[in-house]
Amino acid sequence: MKKFYVTTPIYYVNDVAHIGHAYTTIITDTIARYERLRGKDVFFLTGTDEHGQKIEEAAKARGRSTQEYADEVSGKFKALWDDFGISYDKYIRTTDAEHKAGVQKAFDVMYEKGDIYKDEYEGHYCVSCETFFTETQLVGGEQCPDCGKEVRVVKEESYFFRLSNYQDKLLKWYEENEKAILPKSRKNEVKRFVEGGLTDLSITRTSFDWGVKLPEKMNDPKHVVYVWLDALMNYATALGFGTDDKNMDYFPADYHLIGKDILRFHAIFWPSFLMSLDLPLPKHVAAHGWWTRDGAKMSKSKGNVIDPKEVAEAYGLDNFRYFMLREVPFGQDGDFAQKALMDRINSDLGNDLGNLLNRIIGMSGKYFDSKISSQYVNEYFKADMAQVDEIIGSLDGFAKELQLNRYLEELWKVLAIGNKKIEEVQPWTKMKENGENEVSGLLGLIANILAKASLALSPIMPEKTKELAKALNIEIDTVNFTKLVENKELLEDFTIEKIPPLFPRIEEPLMKEAVIEEETKPEEPKDPQITFDDFLKVVTKVGVVVSAEEVPKSKKLLLLQVDIGEAKPRQVVAGIKEFYAPADLINTQVCLVSNLKPAKLMGNLSEGMVLAAKDENGLKLVRPEKDAVIGTVIS
Ligand code: ME8
Ligand code: MG
Repeated sequence: MKKFYVTTPIYYVNDVAHIGHAYTTIITDTIARYERLRGKDVFFLTGTDEHGQKIEEAAKARGRSTQEYADEVSGKFKALWDDFGISYDKYIRTTDAEHKAGVQKAFDVMYEKGDIYKDEYEGHYCVSCETFFTETQLVGGEQCPDCGKEVRVVKEESYFFRLSNYQDKLLKWYEENEKAILPKSRKNEVKRFVEGGLTDLSITRTSFDWGVKLPEKMNDPKHVVYVWLDALMNYATALGFGTDDKNMDYFPADYHLIGKDILRFHAIFWPSFLMSLDLPLPKHVAAHGWWTRDGAKMSKSKGNVIDPKEVAEAYGLDNFRYFMLREVPFGQDGDFAQKALMDRINSDLGNDLGNLLNRIIGMSGKYFDSKISSQYVNEYFKADMAQVDEIIGSLDGFAKELQLNRYLEELWKVLAIGNKKIEEVQPWTKMKENGENEVSGLLGLIANILAKASLALSPIMPEKTKELAKALNIEIDTVNFTKLVENKELLEDFTIEKIPPLFPRIEEPLMKEAVIEEETKPEEPKDPQITFDDFLKVVTKVGVVVSAEEVPKSKKLLLLQVDIGEAKPRQVVAGIKEFYAPADLINTQVCLVSNLKPAKLMGNLSEGMVLAAKDENGLKLVRPEKDAVIGTVIS
């Protein structure tokens, strides 16, 4: 079986996962599923990047041991991917013993080859990007050209990698491999950078020690390996490089999926390291664009990051996957807005796909006792069927270049053919005019369209297409993919099964409005100032919880009734379930913002917001220090 290797970046453990991380992982999962469906033997790698100064400092700031902190955040990433059904084959952590051994092995091989030498490093370091810069690269003499944060002046003894030796070899690699970097438009940017000249890379640090030690024989215990050499090596150590080589026959990667922020590391450092190690270079380094939220950059400090789990819980995981992949061309930036997500669900999924299924279920039930046959398809609809097969046959080209938005766009043309044919043929009149065979052919055409489309769509929407396939009485598997998609064959006759609507219409946003309308202005040095009058606009009252219950199917939400001295209690949907048991809330006081526009959350009206303080260790409700009179306005 042909082997196929695909990776995500390993994510830093100083942050929680947001939709940007989910995007990379979902694309990678889609590609892995697609190639498995086509019969390849796939190895899909993901994991976490846990060394370096940034992580050490993040742990320190929380008063935690670095390992304990890394364990916790790495565990959260893994739990999210498991929850999302991400089909990874290995979850690597750079704190794994095998990984560390592999990095030491790599250091050793490069050293023996003469690619590593010891010198003194003097320059500027951005901890946030874990990147070295020369004076001339800085913005305004002291800021990182990538993230804008202040750099640190570093002067220390360091080992260097002879990156300068690889300049010509890199340029040759880009030249000879047209698709080494995807999208192709990004290649020039990398090429220009390399043509500008490469200086040797400092690959060890002595100022802190949260990292991989040098190989024993170097006898130089004050150094740890630079985090990017450590991190990039994961793509090889995960397969056993430097230890048992167990899975090295998957190497090199078919695709390294990354965001454009880390393209330089993957398109310049990584291939240089590989050449030094005499290992083959990846077939594609593929860099996608950047997600913003309602037009603004997401960052933890601004508090506007979107939790992918919250989106998936509110809108459905497969719908979310479809949205992300359909909404933006690969390589371009995308914006997350609930309105756009709702439109995609209602229009593409509900109208185009869901309705086509409903129509065939309805008509076959009415006219043919739910039996579907391919017998008359070619007699009446040969050209249409051929057109469908041709479009479906073109999809692989888009998949290969990761243009999944184009893949889906083309796939939807096939659904459009089905919907249009129904309007043209008018089965309800045809049936009255002895056109029974033609109508049977039409339903056969639609069933074949839906079956082929389900197979092609399954890597993107694995769960929904399973339901769709159930109605069509087929399995989503390699046998059927080969038969119906690759060999363009038709379905066997079968009885269609009625299933509930796959994409119920969504009338209003399902996530709290406050979440979409938060302050999202570009970087401000401190909290924006408001006047006292602005402050008075927010009416917060003392209330008492009179009832509390769980919102069914939600991991986060509780439904509270809060008495604030009005005729009847306010109903409030609060995201506090992970931190409070309903029984513990009854008869306790809370502070309720009482003049927020009501919003619906998972189908429940919320008429206010309880104030809380959420930090790394959990969430605490804000309450009057001593019981106060119910309904008192807080000022
Ligand atoms: O860079 N939009 O880890 P990281 C799109 N540990 N993608 C985004 C995104 C956004 N707003 N935010 C993050 C590191 N990503 C290193 C990688 S690999 C050997 C080491 C995604 O946690 C995107 O894939 O900062 C980006 O490249 C990655 O997360 C950065 O993750
Ligand atoms: Mg980052």
